[in-house]
Amino acid sequence: MNVILLGPPGAGKGTQAKLLQELCSILQLSTGDMLRAEVAAGSVLGKRAKEVMDAGQLVSDDVLIGMISNRIDQPDCVNGFILDGFPRTTPQAEALDQMLDVKGLKIDHVIELSVDDEAMIKRITGRYTCSKCGAGYHDEFQTPSVDGICDKCGGNKFSRREDDNETTVRSRLRAYHEQTAPIIAYYRDNDSLDIVDGMADIEQVAKQLAEIVV
Ligand code: AP5
Repeated sequence: MNVILLGPPGAGKGTQAKLLQELCSILQLSTGDMLRAEVAAGSVLGKRAKEVMDAGQLVSDDVLIGMISNRIDQPDCVNGFILDGFPRTTPQAEALDQMLDVKGLKIDHVIELSVDDEAMIKRITGRYTCSKCGAGYHDEFQTPSVDGICDKCGGNKFSRREDDNETTVRSRLRAYHEQTAPIIAYYRDNDSLDIVDGMADIEQVAKQLAEIVV
């Protein structure tokens, strides 16, 4: 099964993709995480991407399309995948359809997490992850059971993303409404769009998603 999660920064795409990954044994493919790995590795692509990401803008379509196409071909995607952060522009959505067609694959569910922009600022500026295993937390909405200790791996070091400051988040929200929101109409016109209430709490959103995909 192949799923696309759509929604603005902070909508919960990453949070829900990780839960769906466990529920359905399919792989989360986050283009943001892939780009951040390139930045951390100091690759040529990472150096170019960092500047764009720090400004809250989108990395060029050709880079992202090639990256996703290669990733889908890896053996760990054989049961399916959840696209988190891709596609993000109409050319990416069109290229994805063509690419999947060539590979003999298709998207089974496109799901939009519908949210309120202003609430996203609070969600994103409060977000942090375990530096060891990458588990996601939030100062208010998703705290570890024992303060300062990761529930998943016991790690005690955490980090925050460089682009998770209010100024950059506002640019990312603008980029979403200008360049990504139009693809919702693209999927609605193809009758393949489901919408869930992303303002509900994390468990409730997960329940809505499970009802669609299981
Ligand atoms: P990316 O990493 O994809 O960031 P994003 O789309 O801005 O999404 P986020 O990761 O910020 O939000 P999310 O929806 O995953 O929220 P989360 O679940 O963490 O992209 C980063 C950058 O890379 C882009 O700006 C761009 O430059 C580049 N890029 C990436 N893909 C690209 C592409 N295809 N084309 C071009 N450029 C690309 O939730 C946020 C917080 O809220 C968490 O702390 C969580 O605990 C909490 N939370 C989640 N759900 C709830 C809830 N229901 N109630 C309360 N709290 C909640």
